Amino acid sequence: MNQYQVLITGANRGIGLEFTRQYAADGWRVLACCRDPESAAALQTLASASKNIQVIALDVGNFSQIDSLALQLKNEAIDVLINNAGVYPHSNFGDTNYEDWAEAFKVNSMAPLKMAEAFVQHIARSQLKKIATLSSKMGSIDDNTSGENYIYRTSKTAVNMAMKSLSIDLKPYGISIVTLHPGWVQTDMGGANGLINTQTSVTGLRQVIADLSLQSTGQFIAFDGKSINW
Ligand SMILES: NC(=O)c1ccc[n+]([C@@H]2O[C@H](COP(=O)([O-])OP(=O)(O)OC[C@H]3O[C@@H](n4cnc5c(N)ncnc54)[C@H](OP(=O)(O)O)[C@@H]3O)[C@@H](O)[C@H]2O)c1
Repeated sequence: MNQYQVLITGANRGIGLEFTRQYAADGWRVLACCRDPESAAALQTLASASKNIQVIALDVGNFSQIDSLALQLKNEAIDVLINNAGVYPHSNFGDTNYEDWAEAFKVNSMAPLKMAEAFVQHIARSQLKKIATLSSKMGSIDDNTSGENYIYRTSKTAVNMAMKSLSIDLKPYGISIVTLHPGWVQTDMGGANGLINTQTSVTGLRQVIADLSLQSTGQFIAFDGKSINW
């Protein structure tokens, strides 16, 4: 069996950095994508200590850059694509910045589908054939009891629907899809009051990805393995 390969977006900090650390430590080859490799100090330190990590420049809001990377990697097999990069512009009623909303839709909702379109052949030729996208319980309509956060919530609700359709469309190619809630995690986005650290979140998320199969494709699952209502 060949070494498994995972491509991770937003790999320079937070949950993406921890995914990189854990998969590399487990013997996987990691294509660790980040917007600015030169300023990605923590990722560069990890990469210099592990021959399994390749640091790659990728702004997921730049779709021609996504196409160029897919071409550059055209002979690679990607076992797992992890759409992790995300933004969280604050937005309460009466204070909505519509440019922020458009940008958040590009990064949080459109880029995961664009990544799937660009890399579908790389994934289809791999052994595991999986796509995992970091969403959030805040995108669950069922779970919304506190309102506000229009931009972040809608961007995650939209990606949930995109991933559901993708799970149906890619099933004939043997590719399975999971939409993930990582918990409330102590990162720059989650803040210091988060309930869990990145190690706990990513250990759980990796288990969910390991358990993913064509039979279970198209679900919204938390880091602890529990299913979340859309
Ligand atoms: N933390 C939580 O409690 C929580 C809860 C639910 C869901 N999530 C989701 O989990 C994912 C990771 O969150 P996190 O907590 O690790 O956030 P974070 O610490 O804020 O990190 C966000 C990552 O996304 C990257 N990113 C943002 N825009 C990008 C772009 N255009 N192109 C490439 N990379 C970009 C950032 O890169 P730069 O350093 O270049 O900005 C950074 O690596 C996100 O999708 C988030 O919505 C997090």
